[in-house]
Amino acid sequence: MKKTLLISMVTAALVCLFALPALYAVDAPGDLTIKVPAGAKATKTPVAFSHKGHAAIDCKTCHHKWDGSGAIKKCAAEGCHIDASKKGKKKPTSFYSAFHARKSENSCVGCHKALKKAKKATGPTKCSACHPKK
Ligand code: HEC
Ligand code: HEC
Ligand code: HEC
Repeated sequence: MKKTLLISMVTAALVCLFALPALYAVDAPGDLTIKVPAGAKATKTPVAFSHKGHAAIDCKTCHHKWDGSGAIKKCAAEGCHIDASKKGKKKPTSFYSAFHARKSENSCVGCHKALKKAKKATGPTKCSACHPKK
């Protein structure tokens, strides 16, 4: 390999390394499927979620109780969005609210709707776009 090419490749790699420092020391997992918590009964199809597709968003927007360094808990962790009953749906602590609260930009639907209103690039807001028909 020519020396100049090697030098420019090394330089490019270093620029990438320092120009885009990871904000946190924790890595986001690859594509995942979000399902209802154990014991709850699903009425809709499970939802696919891609961290890569949301890489421009600060981790703490979604993982809003995270301290930035410890372990990241699931949305339905103890003390969080644990109420998966149909009756409790509207409560902020419900499993449903974590993903659909319209007034919260931490929720999937809340953020997508706010961005849509602002005419910015956004994600799906229709039920069937996230919960594919069976
Ligand atoms: C931006 C994506 C998104 C949109 C749009 C969306 N949901 Fe969801 N929904 C989720 C996620 C994520 C979950 C949690 C994972 C799961 O339960 O599949 C969920 C869970 C649910 C649950 C609780 C779990 C279950 O299966 O019973 C219900 C009920 C639900 N959604 C209904 C709806 C309805 C009705 C609409 C349209 C008004 C809708 N969702 C639109 C992402 C979305
Ligand atoms: C747009 C929202 C969003 C953003 C931004 C986001 N995540 Fe996530 N992340 C999720 C959702 C939703 C889950 C699935 C949670 C669940 O299963 O309850 C998840 C799961 C995780 C998990 C696995 C937790 C577990 O126990 O299964 C880790 C680790 C994680 N994210 C790290 C990160 C890091 C690090 C970043 C920033 C680089 C990040 N996430 C950015 C929404 C997001
Ligand atoms: C804080 C804002 C925000 C939150 C919260 C958020 N999204 Fe998104 N989402 C976006 C934006 C912005 C895009 C468009 C990205 C692009 O086109 O560059 C997007 C795109 C998407 C897409 C289409 C592209 C892809 O990645 O497949 C899906 C599906 C999606 N979001 C699902 C979800 C689900 C499910 C959740 C909740 C677990 C969620 N989003 C939470 C902002 C958000």
